[in-house]
Amino acid sequence: MKFLKAVINETLRLYPVVPFNLRTSKNATTWPNKKPGGKSLFIPANTRTPYAVFMMHRRKDLWGPDALEFDPDRFLDERLHKYLTPNPFIFLPFNAGPRICLGQQFAYHEASFFLVRLLQNFSAISLASDAQPLDSRPPPDWAEDKEGRKGREKIRPRTHLTMYVQGGLWVTMQEAKLGEDGI
Ligand code: HEM
Repeated sequence: MKFLKAVINETLRLYPVVPFNLRTSKNATTWPNKKPGGKSLFIPANTRTPYAVFMMHRRKDLWGPDALEFDPDRFLDERLHKYLTPNPFIFLPFNAGPRICLGQQFAYHEASFFLVRLLQNFSAISLASDAQPLDSRPPPDWAEDKEGRKGREKIRPRTHLTMYVQGGLWVTMQEAKLGEDGI
């Protein structure tokens, strides 16, 4: 189910469950400079390096000019080979390397199964703006943002360690009638 996986990936790209993270160096080391001929970066021992997967997943230099659009097809069409395949570390919802999420495949299975069962039982799901508590709505000044996604956000993403929707995600769901959708 390639498109289902692309939808899950695109959701994890724009709204990564673990949106920021950090690593602490045990030993002193150097990191290569991305600029050709640029000096290496010296990282002393016991140094914390925070990094924001959330920001990286939205970078136009890494994902292309449409980086801010929700478009699952980017995981299927020529953009996959242009951006992600040659540079797989631009997509890190489960982290990478020795401490990569141990539950990654389980999480894909779980989310896929849940979505399939949900869509078998409900024929339409839409945001219930009228039911949304005030604190779950984006602050009015977000509307002024023309650069990022804030200007068009209808909910308010928040982060503690993991990301969630402040005040809950209020939706209206249409129950599927028996016999519809092949059930
Ligand atoms: C969408 C769902 C999930 C996401 C986005 C996710 C993401 C992550 C991330 C980013 C890390 C690395 C944290 C770090 O090293 O700084 C991690 C670690 C881990 N995850 Fe997940 N996870 C998910 C679901 C699961 C599930 C379902 C399980 C178990 C059934 C699981 C088990 C683990 C374990 C055991 C680690 C620690 C691995 C280690 O440090 O060696 N995760 N996860």
